[in-house]
Amino acid sequence: MKFIAAALTLAAVASAQIQLSDPTEGTVWKVGVAQYVRWTGNCAAMGAAGKAVTVEVINGPAGNVKFIANIGTIDCTSTTNTSTSLTVPPQTNNGPFESGTYALRVNADPIQYTTNFIINNPDAPAASAGATATTPSTTEPTTKPSSANALMAGSALAMAALAVVQLVL
Ligand SMILES: *[C@@H]1O[C@H](CO)[C@@H](O)[C@H](O)[C@H]1NC(C)=O
Repeated sequence: MKFIAAALTLAAVASAQIQLSDPTEGTVWKVGVAQYVRWTGNCAAMGAAGKAVTVEVINGPAGNVKFIANIGTIDCTSTTNTSTSLTVPPQTNNGPFESGTYALRVNADPIQYTTNFIINNPDAPAASAGATATTPSTTEPTTKPSSANALMAGSALAMAALAVVQLVL
């Protein structure tokens, strides 16, 4: 019973925070163009920190998710304003932003991830994406890798499980 109670408490805390609703899978963003990040709920419980929550573009296979670019901040403390437009830069610290499949990591408490979606840069169409055995496609992406999301879900579960263990102990 104690275990179940702890798990339910965790679920209640997690659901009190924001849930990202845009971009969704199938969304296509273009670098240099302002795009809306939308969410439901609010992060008022974070206090002042919730007024400037960083938003990062990430990608990579499960087990090796990597940071690509910081694209700004959102204020998720409001109960009425639940969107902010952000722009993916055409350039990152490592050169032109490559077209490909990415996700956003929003560093709220707890951290939130979007589903995978496409970001296009007409000036850097060839995405390497860290693949080793496949030949880069010359056409538009037709697959929607979901390994990053699977990893994120797995990590969240692992963290929740750890938290439960700590609470029980
Ligand atoms: C919502 O907040 C963002 C900044 O977080 C601001 O740019 C935008 O204008 C606000 N929208 C409204 C309707 O107040």
